Amino acid sequence: MDMTKVQARSGKHNLADLESMREGFDWEEVKKDFSWYKTGKVNAAYEAIDRHAENPDKKDQVALLYSAPDREESVTFQQLSKQSNQTANILKKYGIQKGDRVFLFMPRSPEFYANFFGILKVGAIAGPLFEAFMEQAVRDRLEDSEAAMLITTPDLLGRVPVDELPHLKQIVLVGAENLPEDDYIDYDAEIKEASDEFDIEWVDREDGMLIHYTSGSTGKPKGVYHVHNAMVQHYATGKWVIDFKEDDVYWCTADPGWVTGTSYGIFAPWLNGVTNVIRGGRFTPESWYETLDKNNVTIWYTAPTALRKFVSAGDELVKQYDLSSLRHVLSVGEPLNPEVITWALRVFDLRIHDTWWMTETGAMLIVNLPSMEIRPGSMGRPIPGVEAAIVDNEGNELPPNQMGNLAIKKGWPSMMRAIWKNPGKYESYFINGWYVSGDSAYMDEDGYFWFQGRLDDVINTSGERVGPFEVESKLIEHKAVAEAGVIGKPDPERGEIIKAFITLNPGYEANDSLLEEIRQFVKTGLSAHAAPREIEIKDSIPKTRSGKIMRRLLKSWELGLPTGDTSTLEE
Ligand code: PRX
Repeated sequence: MDMTKVQARSGKHNLADLESMREGFDWEEVKKDFSWYKTGKVNAAYEAIDRHAENPDKKDQVALLYSAPDREESVTFQQLSKQSNQTANILKKYGIQKGDRVFLFMPRSPEFYANFFGILKVGAIAGPLFEAFMEQAVRDRLEDSEAAMLITTPDLLGRVPVDELPHLKQIVLVGAENLPEDDYIDYDAEIKEASDEFDIEWVDREDGMLIHYTSGSTGKPKGVYHVHNAMVQHYATGKWVIDFKEDDVYWCTADPGWVTGTSYGIFAPWLNGVTNVIRGGRFTPESWYETLDKNNVTIWYTAPTALRKFVSAGDELVKQYDLSSLRHVLSVGEPLNPEVITWALRVFDLRIHDTWWMTETGAMLIVNLPSMEIRPGSMGRPIPGVEAAIVDNEGNELPPNQMGNLAIKKGWPSMMRAIWKNPGKYESYFINGWYVSGDSAYMDEDGYFWFQGRLDDVINTSGERVGPFEVESKLIEHKAVAEAGVIGKPDPERGEIIKAFITLNPGYEANDSLLEEIRQFVKTGLSAHAAPREIEIKDSIPKTRSGKIMRRLLKSWELGLPTGDTSTLEE
């Protein structure tokens, strides 16, 4: 097979289609599909759910198809509309107002989604937290956002340092059998009483909707702030790239604690009125194939890290499932290996469509449309209405085939509007009118973009973005650790694994049980995905004269590469 190009299946589409879409493109045209375009009344929860619930032809369609090992449930648009009216009433009763931050720290479940839309309906800002976060990760996010309310479960409550969060006024517990104390709001009791009618809070398109915390190479995680207007691009990319049709059954595998799980696990499918499969429980190739088979999934949005596991699981396994309903597969989060594309062509007879974007960008920017020829190894081309380029450090555009910073011309609809309480950080993303992503890439003569790596020290492990600073900070909290430097080490299955270099305090001796103890310390303090898989003890950690850890040098040592410029290295 010629692996340099994979043609679109449907012969009528080609690159010229994309060009013609691009010509004279205006986001105003997309806005006409929203009811606020006519009524002037804006709220993304209305567009995603209530609008369909008010439509006699749509209201009884299944919106949410929930499947977990111990629970199966179908929720129609009308039911989800009513349930989120109930949660909105609970929030309002306990004083939540427009602009307040309300965080969700709970597993994926129908209650999660009812609460999510309830938050939007009162005009508050939702902050979904990944359920695997441990105390430090939870504290950092609730503290920085000054969240007024947290919706969680009794199981996870132990990881919330309630007494140390002065802004956190209310905690709602979902699924509490016996409430630990009466300072908690009992969701299950409240929902029985709450009215299923609610006067939605109309907002401005530029009002806050969502905060996702994400990691950079320095400092604590940053609150990426998104507004209701992002729905314009969620909807449009859902239509063009995910190719939603009314009767699709769609499954996005991402957790809503990450941006893919909100932009494409919530907004894109429901703005387009399709049935959305939500799966709880852990990943195994068997359980995921079963989810595709049992629910007759037609469109699947997942990540290379999972796809690589399917490849390793072998062709015999996939033959045990009927996946004939599947018609479109997409990927995001890490480089999509050409071998995975070849595998999918063989086992599913389907192409995998890579998409590139970031927490900060709010929605897809560089994609493979169903109509495009795929060049395996490339992330694709910018969507209509988006200008991408490779720029140098001053923000000047570079010619094709030259490596540089992947940058986007400022001003697409779903772009973050702020870094929470950190205007300096926000400004630092923009150079000469370009949003500079931190990814290095090049563009070929036909406008396809090819990812090369990160320009900073941010680690991408199994598609999850981890900041080395967070891990280093946790490591040095351990009594045996004096200093720490953390890098991403290339790994065939996970993309990168986290490797920590540490120095020990006097009196501690290097041995396997100490290293395992340190690993567990990060795992139970921060989160499992942030725990270093490898820890190596050093006599010293290389630092610049100003005291910054030279992670580049650690990485060069690890990979046996030339060490480059070390002139700033401390004596
Ligand atoms: O390095 C790029 C990588 O993931 C980063 C963004 O991570 P996050 O904000 O967690 O969002 C992930 C899901 C939107 C990017 O800076 N990345 C994302 N998509 C791709 C990718 N790397 C290569 N190919 C992709 N398609």
